[in-house]
Amino acid sequence: MHAMDLLLKKRDGGELSTAEIEFFVRAVVRNGEAKLGHPAGDVDGAGETITDAQMGAFLMAVFQRGLSLRELGDLTRAMRFSGETFDGVAEGFGAMKPLMVDKHSTGGVGDKSSLLIAPIVAAAGMVGEPRIAVPMISGRSLGHTGGTLDKLETIPGFDSQLSMQRMGEVLRECHAVLVGQTPRLVPADRILYGMRDHTGTVESPFLICASIMSKKLAESLDGLVLDVKVGSGAFMPTYEQSRFLAELMVSTGEGAGTKTVALLTSMDEPMGRFSGNWVEVWECVEILKGVRHPMSADLVELALMLSGWMLHVGGKAGSPEEGAAMADEMLRSGAAYAAWLRIVAAQGGDVRVFEDPAGFQRPKATRVLRAARAGYLAGMDCKEVGWAVQRLGAGRARPGDPVSAHAGIESHAKVGDWIEAGGAIFTLFSEDEALLAEPYRMLEATVRLEDAPPERQSLVREVVRG
Ligand code: URA
Repeated sequence: MHAMDLLLKKRDGGELSTAEIEFFVRAVVRNGEAKLGHPAGDVDGAGETITDAQMGAFLMAVFQRGLSLRELGDLTRAMRFSGETFDGVAEGFGAMKPLMVDKHSTGGVGDKSSLLIAPIVAAAGMVGEPRIAVPMISGRSLGHTGGTLDKLETIPGFDSQLSMQRMGEVLRECHAVLVGQTPRLVPADRILYGMRDHTGTVESPFLICASIMSKKLAESLDGLVLDVKVGSGAFMPTYEQSRFLAELMVSTGEGAGTKTVALLTSMDEPMGRFSGNWVEVWECVEILKGVRHPMSADLVELALMLSGWMLHVGGKAGSPEEGAAMADEMLRSGAAYAAWLRIVAAQGGDVRVFEDPAGFQRPKATRVLRAARAGYLAGMDCKEVGWAVQRLGAGRARPGDPVSAHAGIESHAKVGDWIEAGGAIFTLFSEDEALLAEPYRMLEATVRLEDAPPERQSLVREVVRG
């Protein structure tokens, strides 16, 4: 086979065979490893080589022509097995192997539900049968959205880059582990993602699906719950595109033998009370300790709903509603907080900071955005709010830049709330007074106050099942 023949076939609208797709992914990994100085190239004389230009052209051909569900399944599987998987981690449990269940979010503003869901499901998954464990591989902030790893790494000592062996130990001890992608896990995605980023092919739903699902399926999952965001803060620009992506991911997951469900959820305003890094950990610690701040109500609702679905696909609950009730009990009883402390300590984090989360990582500079007139909070461009949070210092201008633990915003009102003239809408936090001005202007420009209340959207808009 030759890379050139494959890309011409896809360019002209043909359907690639399983063997051709496997050839492409093997060639991508060889090319990438050769660049890292690893033994690669045509090592076994198979002729499986590809140039960067051919990879870029192939990605653009897929972007333009799409993939059949069979091709998408093949691409996802070839990427999933392009490096290490969690199979060994799962086997380490021996006869006591629990069901592996995870959730994935397509990314939002203030969406910290993973920090609640992992301990909730771990706590429920430790007792009785079937046992459930959550091997959660998370990402860093991307575009206008926050990243779970950046939030967790504001906890002193917390290590998100564990070896495969240590991941297995933490998972066995705590029934959850919260880590980043390792260099050996799905290397094909690491290479292709970087290539997509500078060939204008990031937004292809087929390539997004293969990228997300190859990483999730490499966790050797029995069940997967996808939180696909819709609304002004979502990555996908329209509801239909979000639903299409959800359908592709559910179909790919089910095709790989993993019970998969997707919830389309609203992302039209920041989720919960805080958006940023440490401030989001603080909010979750309060919830895990049993404090229910009214601004966190949407976050708690989402976390319980997603946990409920995870417990349901993991066979622990007869229905998602029963699962949500079980999840609520884990929060109320303190079992989820105990699980959180165990997970953080096992990953090297200093849990003493949770004794007074408001007192730790105090922001140096703050500014309050107040209502210029009285009115109902009618809406905002949530993506713009996400960018404001990133520019306060919570995100990166370039890959590898450090993020600020202190930066972020506190929301004082939700869409539909009445605000008096002069009432607080957002408090902005930053390490640097000079970083407050631009995000303040962005927030001021995007917030809409009106005389009539807006129509309220439900949090879960639709459920996509296999
Ligand atoms: N997240 C991923 O992991 N991959 C994508 O392509 C988009 C979001």
